[in-house]
This record gives sequence, structure tokens and C-alpha cells, in this order.
Amino acid sequence: RTPGEARQYVSSLAPGRRSVGLVPTMGALHAGHLSLVQMSRDRCDATIATIFVNPTQFGPNEDLEKYPRTLERDLELLGAEGVAAVFTPESNAMYPEGFSTFVQPPSVAEPLEGVCRPGHFRGVATVVLKLFHAVPATHAFFGRKDYQQLKVIEAMTRDLGLAIEIIPGDTIREVDGLALSSRNRYLDQAERERALLIRAALAKTEAAVLGGEREIDNLESMMRETLNPAGAADTRDVDAHRVDTRGVDKIDYAVVVDAETLEPIRQLDRRAVALIAAHVGQTRLIDNQVLTDSA
Ligand code: PAF
Repeated sequence: RTPGEARQYVSSLAPGRRSVGLVPTMGALHAGHLSLVQMSRDRCDATIATIFVNPTQFGPNEDLEKYPRTLERDLELLGAEGVAAVFTPESNAMYPEGFSTFVQPPSVAEPLEGVCRPGHFRGVATVVLKLFHAVPATHAFFGRKDYQQLKVIEAMTRDLGLAIEIIPGDTIREVDGLALSSRNRYLDQAERERALLIRAALAKTEAAVLGGEREIDNLESMMRETLNPAGAADTRDVDAHRVDTRGVDKIDYAVVVDAETLEPIRQLDRRAVALIAAHVGQTRLIDNQVLTDSA
């Protein structure tokens, strides 16, 4: 329950257990998290998961209070996967009275989520650094679903010379293509159907690239048209009746950018990534697709 206990536990592991894999989560586990646990188990001698709904990465109007908390079930799932231990600190163990030190995240944190969710990556970078310190693992596993988060953590690890290897895990999807997310449980049936437009937009983009399209403007227009077939405004329409129910309710961004820096590009002349953040009902969803110029 405390960083001290976690550190002590890791150092008490049998000396033969040379590699320790860390799977940081906020709980409400699904098959995406469990696939990271499986990757860690395949690669490392011992696997430790963390469950902590980190308050510093939520904005004032975000879903911190209603974020799903399913600790008992999560522990059962992790137990069945054979993790060695689960670190589940209380908030005051991570942020004791008087806490005031934060990580200034790397520049890759600035666009996209950095604009839509100011302070989010400051909270993520801070808690992840604290988790790395509490659980001195050799490897840490993060999903590609949170693409920008992965890039932020990779850059922080590189810039600060942290002795931990970051291993990305593929996005796990429902059979219909919806990327698994703890927030999917907020969607009702009709919203869930509209949420599929996000995957459809990414799949169309990938297909267009395979068909030879290289103009980023064209790819981005295609994504927006798919997300919002009737061409409703990008921000939620003031007159609710004019919101096209076949589209998503609001597009935060639908872009194709450099896959490493996340900076804008004009032509697909390098490895790039299509990234979407969109609202369906009250739920904000993100997804992405890596694109290569030779695809
Ligand atoms: O991806 C998440 O679940 C969280 O952002 C993380 C990495 C566990 C930090 O709180």
C-alpha cells in the first residue's frame, strides 16, 4: 500500500528474479491491461501491477469522481494472471501533505492532449516517475492506445536517463473494432455504435494511404467526414437539435502527424500517426493508427 512497502517487496524478491516488469494502471481492468501483464510475464521474472486513480492527471471538469473503481475484481483478474504483487496506494501515500514537486513533461506532451487537457501529462509524468521509484522494475509496459502518453513516457525515460526499459503493447479491440478502454462502460448502446466511427475513420485513412494518398490535408478531411458525415461543426452545436446523431458529438482533433514528435506534417513522407479524440455523449474517446509512407 505504500511506496516504502513496494520498494522493500521488490528488493526481497529472490535474487534469481533479475527482471521485474511493471504494469501501471488506474484499475477498471480489461483485456488491454491483461495483455500488458501477459507481455510482462513472458519477458520478466516477476510482474508487479499498480492500481492508482491518479488525481493529478484529471482536470477540474473531468471524470475523477466517477472513474470506475473495481478493486476486488481487478485483484482477482491480476491474481489469475499470476502477478507477483499489486501496488494499490491511497492518494495520501503518493501525495502526502505538502506535496508540491511535479515533473515538467517533455515537448511531445504539448500538442493535442496537451492542448485539450492542460496539466494532464504533468500529472501522468509525475505519477509514473513516482511509480518507477516505488517499484524499481527493469521493464515497464504501456499500451499504444494512449499513443501520446507512451511517447511522453518514452521521452521522459530517455531525457532523465531512467534505468527502465519502456515496452509498448498493441491496442486490444472488441470484435467490431472499438478500442478497449475503461471509459467504454460509460457508453449506452446507441453511443457505442457511434463510437465505432472513430475506428472507421482510422481504417479509411489507413486504406487511403495504402491506395497511394500522401496529402495530409486530404487524409484529415476524410477522417472528419467519417466522424461527422453531415459536416456538423467541430465543437458541440449550441442548438442540440442540429447535432447529427449519426456522427460523433464533438471532435477534439483528427490529425495525421509525425509519429515521434507529433508535430504537423504536410506530406506522408515519413512514419506518421493518425490520432483522434472525440466525444460521444458525455464520453471522450481516443484512438490512433500508425501509418508508414511505404504502407
Ligand atoms: O494509462 C493509465 O492508466 C495512466 O495514465 C497511468 C499510466 C497508469 C498513470 O496514471
